[in-house]
Formats: sequence, C-alpha cells, structure tokens
Amino acid sequence: MRLKDNYRVGVLGSGKGSNFVALADAVAADPHPPYEIALVLSDVAEAGILIHARNRGIVAEYLAPGPFRTKLDEAAEAAYVAALRKAEVDLVVLAGFMRVLKEQFLSAFTTKVINIHPSLLPSFPGLEAWRQALDHGVKFTGCTVHFVDQGVDTGPIIGQKVVPVIDDDTAGTLHARIQVAEHELYPAVVRALAEGRIAVHGRMTTWRRE
Ligand code: GRF
Repeated sequence: MRLKDNYRVGVLGSGKGSNFVALADAVAADPHPPYEIALVLSDVAEAGILIHARNRGIVAEYLAPGPFRTKLDEAAEAAYVAALRKAEVDLVVLAGFMRVLKEQFLSAFTTKVINIHPSLLPSFPGLEAWRQALDHGVKFTGCTVHFVDQGVDTGPIIGQKVVPVIDDDTAGTLHARIQVAEHELYPAVVRALAEGRIAVHGRMTTWRRE
C-alpha cells in the first residue's frame, strides 16, 4: 500500500488545457509543491489537455463519455469515479470539462470537486460566458472558481478575479483576457485547498491567505 504523502489532484478537461498547463507549471516552479497532479482524464480523445499532460509525464487517459452530449452516461460516470479513486485523488479539478456531473459522481467526492467558470458568477452561467458578458454590455467580468454541486455553475464560490471589458473587445480578445486571470486564480485556489486554507460552511467559504 502506498503511503499518502502528498495531496493528489485529478484534472478533467475536454479542450486545449491551458488551465491544466497553469496548474502543472505552478507545481513545477515550486520547490515544495503542496500538491501533485496524479491523473488527467478527458472525454475527448484528441483533447490538447491529454497531450499537455503526457508531455509532462502525467498519466492521462481518454475515457469514453457514452451517448449523451452534455453528460456522462451511468457506466462512464462510474469509470471516471473508479479511475479517480484508483489514483487516490483528494481533489477533482474541472478545467474546461464540458459535461455536467451527476449525483453518482458528486456523492463519491463530496465538496471535493471544483470548477473554473469564465464570468463573475452568478452572472452568466452556462456556455460562452464571455460572449454573454459582451452581449450584455457589462464593463467588468472575470472568472470564478467554485465547488461543484448538482446545478450548472451554482455551487459555493471560492474565489473570483475581475477583468475589465474594453471598448473594442471581441469575444476572442475578452476570453483571452479572462483566461490570463484564470491562470492566476486556479493555481492559487488549488494550492490553498491543498494547504487546508479554504473552509466551507453551507454556501459560504472562507479563504485564509498564506
Ligand atoms: C476556461 O475558459 C474555463 O473557464 C472554462 O473552460 C475553459 C477551459 O479552457 N470552464 P482550457 O481548456 O483550460 O484552456
């Protein structure tokens, strides 16, 4: 039996994986990282996140999602839970994972699943939040890291970072600016969770700084 000596993180993503890269780079740059990325899983066989992980020597697997477009089917959800349990993860980090996780998954990792969303929740939940913000005409938007519950982008908020909307922004320029903020916020939150500096009381969370 392996003695657990470090806080282990599993990352789930469907896309290019820039948030995963930010997390992996933060670990690599730290002489005493408080966590390790134990496993990366994707529902998209050719996802960039898998390539980035493999290039860094991190175990990265494609697990078939089943027939639905926006969720995992029951067998797939069980396979994701089994892989994460086998890797003995303490935290599941969603980094652009484009499927809603259901009760079976969430009850296996109660208050151990977090997500990053590209808006200041509760504004603009759902898809392409940066485009929703632009279309609405807000002057500030940003990103939010939150615990995942049964709803879509509704769980307790852990941290947020504000990003200005600039007059000539397109959806692309605004999303790129939000992603810069994401790449700062997500590693800081994962580090704080690994160091036990974040507490949850119902919907409220507290984040003790260093
Ligand atoms: C991010 O913008 C994140 O907020 C959203 O999905 C995107 C993932 O990007 N949930 P990447 O794959 O980490 O580059």
